[in-house]
Amino acid sequence: MRKPIIAGNWKMNKTPDEAAALVEALKPLVSDAACDVVVCVPAVDLHAVKAAVKGSKIHVGAQNVHFAEKGAYTGELSADMLLQSGAEYVIIGHSERRQYFGETDATVNQRVKAAVAAGLKVILCVGEKKEEREAGYTDALVEYQTLIALTGLDKKEVEKVVIAYEPVWAIGTGLTATDEQANETIGVIRQALARKYGKGTANKVRIQYGGSMNPKNVKGLMAQPEIDGGLIGGASLKAEDFSKVVNFDK
Ligand code: PGA
Repeated sequence: MRKPIIAGNWKMNKTPDEAAALVEALKPLVSDAACDVVVCVPAVDLHAVKAAVKGSKIHVGAQNVHFAEKGAYTGELSADMLLQSGAEYVIIGHSERRQYFGETDATVNQRVKAAVAAGLKVILCVGEKKEEREAGYTDALVEYQTLIALTGLDKKEVEKVVIAYEPVWAIGTGLTATDEQANETIGVIRQALARKYGKGTANKVRIQYGGSMNPKNVKGLMAQPEIDGGLIGGASLKAEDFSKVVNFDK
């Protein structure tokens, strides 16, 4: 019922020229993808990538957005700037932003509200650290992160948000949550959405898994009923690997 969505998170990789070349290599490999395909690229690559995806099914996204419409925020980018530069999606609250750039649940919420209001499609990242899982706080934490981030949105807006459940200990480490762990925690997120917004809304929200997802483990993860896609870091930087993830059902 929910259409899967596979998104690449390129992080701080690829110059505009390299970005265009990667998209050109990717295009023929994902031409009959059954899922939504997105590449979230560095903001300075948006223009080149938007041109390169022309005539393909690949959607374009950014990796962060500021919550103000404009103003004295040196180095930041507004939702309108990203939209006009070619972004349709934006990742918000990635753990690397929480860890290295002082992102909090409150600022994630501000960014989500600004992005949705401007018409960007949000990929909201939540997930626990290793010590939080070991202490038994995973469920409470992902519920809290999710509900705070969505505060202020109505049901219709929540339905359009894509959530990426990314256990921090699995990002870039080669460690993946087991299929069952990922499915279970995504189920916890969906139940929290159901309690707050009703079952109908919860059943419409697409929830991805992220954290060392790759051509080898994608099939098992995607076979889980709660998992609606993936947010892919390392494996999205090579056209062949990313296309294998996108074509998990082939
Ligand atoms: P990874 O990154 O696939 O390299 O673990 C995922 C992410 O950070 O979104």
